[in-house]
Amino acid sequence: MVKICCIGAGYVGGPTMAVIALKCPEIEVAVVDIATPRINAWNSDHLPIYEPGLDDVVKKCRGKNLFFSTDVEKHVAEANIVFVSVNTPTKTQGLGAGKAADLTYWESAARMIADVSKSDKIVVEKSTVPVKTAEAIERILTHNRKGINFTILSNPEFLAEGTAIKDLFNPDRVLIGGREIPEGQKAIHALRDVYAHWVPLDRILCTNLWSAELSKLAANAFLAQGISSVNAMSALCEATGADVSQVSHSIGTDSRIGPKFLNASVGFGGSCFQKDILNLVYICECNGLPEVANYWKQVIKVNDYQKARFVNRIVSSMFNTVSGKKIAVLGFAFKKDTGDTRETPAIDVCKGLLGDKAKLSIYDPQVSEEQILKDLAMKKFDWDHPAHLQPTSPTTSKKEVSVVWDAYEAIKDSHGICILTEWDEFKNLDYQKVFDNMQKPAFIFDGRNVVDVKKLRDIGFIAYSIGKPLDAWLKDMPAVA
Ligand code: NAD
Ligand code: UDX
Repeated sequence: MVKICCIGAGYVGGPTMAVIALKCPEIEVAVVDIATPRINAWNSDHLPIYEPGLDDVVKKCRGKNLFFSTDVEKHVAEANIVFVSVNTPTKTQGLGAGKAADLTYWESAARMIADVSKSDKIVVEKSTVPVKTAEAIERILTHNRKGINFTILSNPEFLAEGTAIKDLFNPDRVLIGGREIPEGQKAIHALRDVYAHWVPLDRILCTNLWSAELSKLAANAFLAQGISSVNAMSALCEATGADVSQVSHSIGTDSRIGPKFLNASVGFGGSCFQKDILNLVYICECNGLPEVANYWKQVIKVNDYQKARFVNRIVSSMFNTVSGKKIAVLGFAFKKDTGDTRETPAIDVCKGLLGDKAKLSIYDPQVSEEQILKDLAMKKFDWDHPAHLQPTSPTTSKKEVSVVWDAYEAIKDSHGICILTEWDEFKNLDYQKVFDNMQKPAFIFDGRNVVDVKKLRDIGFIAYSIGKPLDAWLKDMPAVA
């Protein structure tokens, strides 16, 4: 019987293993983690992450062939295939700080696997790692072995949050990289057999180890580059009267470009894009490729520019100061259908507004007050280190930030609204009622292109939406850079 163990019960480990358990009833799947509260939540009715469809999948398999446990060593020892899906955040200190991937968690997982194993294992890199990590992991595993064979595979995950279950059920592709030697190929086939339970074989791509590792970084860099490209265009649209939605549609109909992932926004967020591009930049620098590094760095710079530009637009439109003004922030998660706030653009936008002494009233249907206050108090890059997975005392002052559980409550008596996540409910608010309950002039800044600016202007709002033609008020305000 095949036994799978996955180290790391996070946004990737949890959903991915739940789907493997569902699709492969004869395989026993254990998901293990050092974070006891996370494992307790996986074993409860309130899963630790919000992901449409996940509850259903977990309910169908948990206790049958899917188990969540903190007994990491026992389950690793028993497994034939060990996935490692621990966090690989950006280093905060030392060599490569602010760019390189911190592989501390990966290395400690690898050492533990080497220590507790009593039988041969396939060890699968599920985490996103720098290209060539498998070589280092192999050294750790083989150095400690006592006649045990470890075969390393790279099987990066391409799911996106908010659509994880859909993506896992019907992936564009599954990528498996292994050594081009008989043991490597045998291991590739073993893992391919697991996915082949529900993924057509022509969508299971097999490559060498380094191509698989690099493809993951490359895919995220390409996706993020597309967003920075359209966001750069959004600034030019505002300066010229072009409409970014029309431009996106026009270029997206070219089959060589395609219509997806061309939505202008306040900036991309999430735990992957920035971290993985910084990692790619660092790898290029280490390989003596500064031109390539600088090219990718620009994707991050444009993203930072977009967030700063949004804050500047708000402040300059509201008579160059938001000091003491109540601003309603609608949405805090980095995208809709998730409660994840890692690297959400909302953090930078809120910090920018707080820097100008605004009073914020924040509403997000899936993010708690504790999480928001913690995020606003946290230093850049600290968010993905396990200490921060545990609750800590928030330090952001509740005087400047209130977190409420209703959009209308957030909006009441505010001078301005900014929409930072594209939750569907923000499209359907009663904007006449919203307008009636606000200070005048009533401003709305849509960072996600979810509202109809024309309708809002007819109601009386001064309305701004990323990359859309400006109204007379905004045009007359000082230029935003
Ligand atoms: P996460 O922080 O949600 O989960 C990682 C888990 O690993 C945590 O619960 C942590 O406690 C646990 N962990 C850390 N060290 C451990 C150890 N030694 N033993 C046992 N458990 C340990 O992270 P995530 O979002 O699931 O991401 C995991 C990896 O997958 C990262 O490399 C990330 O880049 C990659 N990835 C993430 C996504 C995504 O959408 N979140 C998508 C594709 C790839
Ligand atoms: C991303 C990749 O899409 C996924 O393949 C990889 O496995 C993990 O990283 P994720 O970060 O979960 O997934 O979400 P994604 O849908 O890619 O969105 C990332 C950010 O880009 C969000 O803040 C989103 O709002 C923003 N975005 C996305 C845009 O601003 N415009 C778009 O057109 C698409």
